[in-house]
Amino acid sequence: MKVSNEYRSAMRIRVDYTNMTDKYLGNKGISPQTISAHRSLAKAAHTFVNDNRGKDELFMGWTELPYNQTEVVADILETAKKIRRKFEYFVVLGIGGSALGPIMAFNALCHLHYNDLKRGKRKGPKFYVEDNVDPVRMKELLDVIDVKKTCFNVISKSGATSETMAQYLVISDLLKKAGEDVKEHVVFTTDASRGNLVKISEELGGVKSFVLGDGVGGRFSELSPVGLLPAAVLGIDIKLLLKGAAYMDKLCATPDLKKNPALICATLQYIAMKDGKNIGVLMPYSDNLRYVSDWYAQLWAESLGKNVTLSGGRCNIGQTPVKALGVTDQHSQVQLYTEGPYDKVVTFLSVDSYKEKSPIPHGCENIPDVSFLGGHTMEELIRAENKATAYALTKAGRLNYTISLPAVNEFTLGELLYLFELQTAYAGAMLNINTFNQPGVEAGKKATFALLGKPGYESQRAELDNAAPDENYIV
Ligand code: PA5
Repeated sequence: MKVSNEYRSAMRIRVDYTNMTDKYLGNKGISPQTISAHRSLAKAAHTFVNDNRGKDELFMGWTELPYNQTEVVADILETAKKIRRKFEYFVVLGIGGSALGPIMAFNALCHLHYNDLKRGKRKGPKFYVEDNVDPVRMKELLDVIDVKKTCFNVISKSGATSETMAQYLVISDLLKKAGEDVKEHVVFTTDASRGNLVKISEELGGVKSFVLGDGVGGRFSELSPVGLLPAAVLGIDIKLLLKGAAYMDKLCATPDLKKNPALICATLQYIAMKDGKNIGVLMPYSDNLRYVSDWYAQLWAESLGKNVTLSGGRCNIGQTPVKALGVTDQHSQVQLYTEGPYDKVVTFLSVDSYKEKSPIPHGCENIPDVSFLGGHTMEELIRAENKATAYALTKAGRLNYTISLPAVNEFTLGELLYLFELQTAYAGAMLNINTFNQPGVEAGKKATFALLGKPGYESQRAELDNAAPDENYIV
């Protein structure tokens, strides 16, 4: 799709942070002076991110994904076309950064009951993302797919992630037992040269593979083949997704806090974190956007939750992301947000125009408590509830701001993802930490290797065996 300047401005995401300021929150809000006092820190973060754009050695290759994938995109589109023609099921095997992006894009841009639609009403095969090793889930997936008619996209940068590789062993065994040629049923998305999937591909005689570049970490990989192949298989316009990301990049080219949406979000979150707001709630008012919260939770938590600064000092910082859904969680969590501790920032994701309006018919005319709804639309109702919740939080002195999408589509999702990625990179720079590593995840991975007898982990196994539960503390 050709994107005109008019389309770009019509689809521009807006950030309204009035409800973060002292204008309505009084002494619970952030003053213009406080924001001004953080201008130079924000500018330095902006410069840091700009100066390191595309640097693989710093894991900042993701900044260039909207621009440097012309050939890859062509290959993805070609491969996706073949997959759509040949298979009835498309299953992603991956976890963390290799799964949350595909889940988010699927939910945001496809029919909410996609797998239940008849084939003619779907643009691609039935779609599943298996991001757990729950044995029940594995077995029950196999109850609803036919491996002979399934393409498995194995996504793992390292090819050493126990969860994904266990799943791979299960499906390759099943395919072999069914008399199928494994390499005809799998597509790998992995590192260019290192990693076990590269070795497996060689053993199988060359599996169709896509590369996840050295400088792109899992949680920043949705705009790489990790996210683009599943999206293309689903008929999502991946070029438009990338154009939306490029547009957001352009909007964020300036260090001016009044103009750069990602920088103002990062700065406000930074100020809030420093003031003890240790919880960041992301609350989309849209079922299509509900899994943006899962994707964002990993991005924000794994990137900012660190115990050491770049200068080597101890820090133990980060902000705990909480996922909420409007309006559903108004009836679950909003009581806490309104009256509980002052330890949160609530970010609303609002939609100006939903793709469906769903009119509410007139009825129950003798019951005014119900009849007032007639003649409105569900769209009006959800938008009103969004506004009302923001108002109620503000009245209660609670920090909140709103990111508005004119509509949910490929372009705006691309904008949103890139905004959050830049926001995270800026916030990490302000906190002076390594945003792109995840040493805290490694300990658990290694302990799992030890427990399951991976060679080289014998001493850790002994340590784990000795750390038996103490009977005194078991009830
Ligand atoms: O963000 C990350 O780096 C992680 O969540 C990884 O994506 C996740 O651990 C999976 O790793 P891999 O792609 O190597 O299987």
